[in-house]
This record gives sequence, C-alpha cells and structure tokens, in this order.
Amino acid sequence: DKPVTLHALGKMRAEGRKITMLTAYDASFAAMMDRTGVDTVLIGDSLGNVIQGHKSTLPVTLEQMAYHTECVARGCKRAFILTDMPFGSYQEGPVQAMRNAARLMAAGAQMVKIEGGEHMAETVRFLVERGIPVCAHVGLTPQSVNQLGGYRVQGRDETGAEKMKADALALEQAGAAMIVLELVPSKLAAEITASLTTMATIGIGAGPDCDGQVLVLYDMLGIFPGKPARFVKNYMDGAASIEEAIANYVTEVREGAFPTAAHGY
Ligand code: KIV
Ligand code: NA
Repeated sequence: DKPVTLHALGKMRAEGRKITMLTAYDASFAAMMDRTGVDTVLIGDSLGNVIQGHKSTLPVTLEQMAYHTECVARGCKRAFILTDMPFGSYQEGPVQAMRNAARLMAAGAQMVKIEGGEHMAETVRFLVERGIPVCAHVGLTPQSVNQLGGYRVQGRDETGAEKMKADALALEQAGAAMIVLELVPSKLAAEITASLTTMATIGIGAGPDCDGQVLVLYDMLGIFPGKPARFVKNYMDGAASIEEAIANYVTEVREGAFPTAAHGY
C-alpha cells in the first residue's frame, strides 16, 4: 500500500470517503494500526493522561512529544503521522511555534496539531507557508481546561456556535488542512463540515457527519479507568484480539456505522 499523503487525505475529503484516525504512543500499536489500514495516527498529548497518569494534558513537554513521535514513526510504513504541539510550545506566537514544530517534524511527524480558534490563524499560516501541514483543534480544547471550567460540550449556545463557525473558516483560510472538532453538538459539527471547502473535519464527540473520526486508543480498547464518555465505543466488546478491535473500528468509521447519533450531543 502506498503511504498516505496530505494530498490523498484531501482527495478522501473531496470524495466523501471517511478519514480514520487513532492515537498511538509507541511503535507496536502504531504498527498494528498501520497494518489494519488506519489512515492517520495521532501522537496526542492525551499521553499525559493515558501514559503518564496526569489529570490534564498541561504537564506534557515538547521532548516527551518528540520521543513518542519517534517511537510511533518507527512503527508506521503507510499511515500519515501527526503530533500534538503540547501546552506552552506554540501559544507565544508564530516564531516559537515554528521552532518547536520543526523539532516534532524532525522526530517523524508529517503534520502538527494546535488547539485554538481564530486567534491561532496567524500561527497556522506561518507554519503552512514554511512547509508544515497543520491540523487545527476547536470545541473542547483540553489545554484550556482551566479556562473552560471542565471537560464539557462546547458551542451549545448561539454565540458559542457562531464563534466556532467563524473560527473554523478562519483556520481554513489560514491553510489548516484538517481540524479536530471535540465535544461539539452533532448539528453544529455538520454545519461546520458543510461550510468548509478544503479543510477536513475530524470528530470526537461531534456526531456522525464529520469527514473523519478519531478516538483515543486506550478509550476504544476499554483500558482507560473510569466511566467512558458517551462518544466512546469499546471495540474490545466482541473482538477476539486488539488487532480485530482496531480493524472493526476502521470498518465502522469507513462505512458510517460509527459514530451514530447516540454517540453525539
Ligand atoms: O490528545 C489527543 O488524543 C487528541 C485527540 C483526542 C483529538 O487531541
Ligand atoms: Na490532544
């Protein structure tokens, strides 16, 4: 199989073929995702929660993200690799973001992900113009948990919804190729997806109408402690192996069987 490129992902969006994404933090799981045909592998700063046991993503460092990116990159032959820029590594401005994104690209990332709306557009443009593909991330942005006051659905009121629509358009115009919509009402996520012309929306708790879907690996394998969120599905239920669970996720996302309306808000 040919490696997944940014161009191929754009073609998938244009043709209405769902983009599959999972998080990975090490070479073995990454290789398994690669084999089962996961299109994009995200080294998420959720590793602060699921690997390190922190209560938020805020303590994760750039060097930790680079280390896990190197591990994942060694496991992937085909999947497109993107890495989260951790808290504090890009918010100062475009120059800081460029310097730190370069470290992650050198570690094996093919795209970086940054949280934030319109105020990040200048930084997105700066990176894209200098050869670094960018995935944006709006809705529930975990690095802003202290400002948001918890992990809850965003854009439920009219003002919030209009702001998110404007954010998405500004990020697309700045050159972001993808955008994660996290904990966004299904109707709003569908409207945002329909309003865009080039940027692919990747949902998590954002309903069935995004261009693609992402889950945290440890959530979809049912190994993260605690009550799972409504948007999570445990693919180990009824699967004989982890590889089968991941393959079933890929099939269900591609066929539009996951997520359903019941997984959304
Ligand atoms: O860190 C992460 O795993 C993420 C996904 C949930 C999108 O940002
Ligand atoms: Na993240």
